[in-house]
Amino acid sequence: MHQVLPGPLHDYLAALLPERDATLAEMEAVAKEHSIPIIGPLVGRLLHQLARMSGATRVFEMGSAIGYSTIWLARAVGDGGKVYYTDGSASNAEKARDYLRRAGVADRVEVLVGDALDLLARTEGTFDLIFNDVDKHDYPKVFSLALPRIRRGGLLVTDNVLWSGQVVSPSTDAWTQAIQEYNRLSYASSEVWTTIIPLRDGVAVSVKLH
Ligand SMILES: C[S@@+](CC[C@H](N)C(=O)[O-])C[C@H]1O[C@@H](n2cnc3c(N)ncnc32)[C@H](O)[C@@H]1O
Repeated sequence: MHQVLPGPLHDYLAALLPERDATLAEMEAVAKEHSIPIIGPLVGRLLHQLARMSGATRVFEMGSAIGYSTIWLARAVGDGGKVYYTDGSASNAEKARDYLRRAGVADRVEVLVGDALDLLARTEGTFDLIFNDVDKHDYPKVFSLALPRIRRGGLLVTDNVLWSGQVVSPSTDAWTQAIQEYNRLSYASSEVWTTIIPLRDGVAVSVKLH
């Protein structure tokens, strides 16, 4: 599991969490059993809170797998809100549709299958929040594609930015290098104000300034 917090601290925080409903709990169990890399409840809760705090009603998610993070977001946008689910796998999307229906949020989620970067380019309008969880080599590209699509004061949230701690050393691995570049860009850019929250595998939260 991707995890930067010391085990006892992670377990302490996890034990504070209220129980999830049956659908999320089942998805957590399925993800564990099949090694599906979901954000898990600590980051799910953070994502939900960020969406609520920013008053997000229009959200674009990049890399949604079976829809676990999608449900945390969809519950935050409320009635009339909209979340775009994206994943390259049609079979993931099929599973996600079922979970979204069971979670009672199918009516506020549009399921799109294909490359998330292309799908973002093809979907009109701006977003209150974009959540990025695609394959890591694309992170710098996502930074430049996503920023113009976020309203002023909106959020770009990216998972796995501490990559099990691998970001601290120079690396020859393409995914680690891309995450390091993403982090550098998101702190150096004058377009956003970024803080990395070292929860689970590290979450970068960038607010769009202009
Ligand atoms: C880390 S998992 C997403 C987990 C999900 N966000 C959650 O926490 O429940 C990454 C998913 O993104 C998909 N993916 C990776 N790169 C993608 C891309 N460029 N376009 C679409 N889907 C992508 C993979 O198929 C995989 O299902």
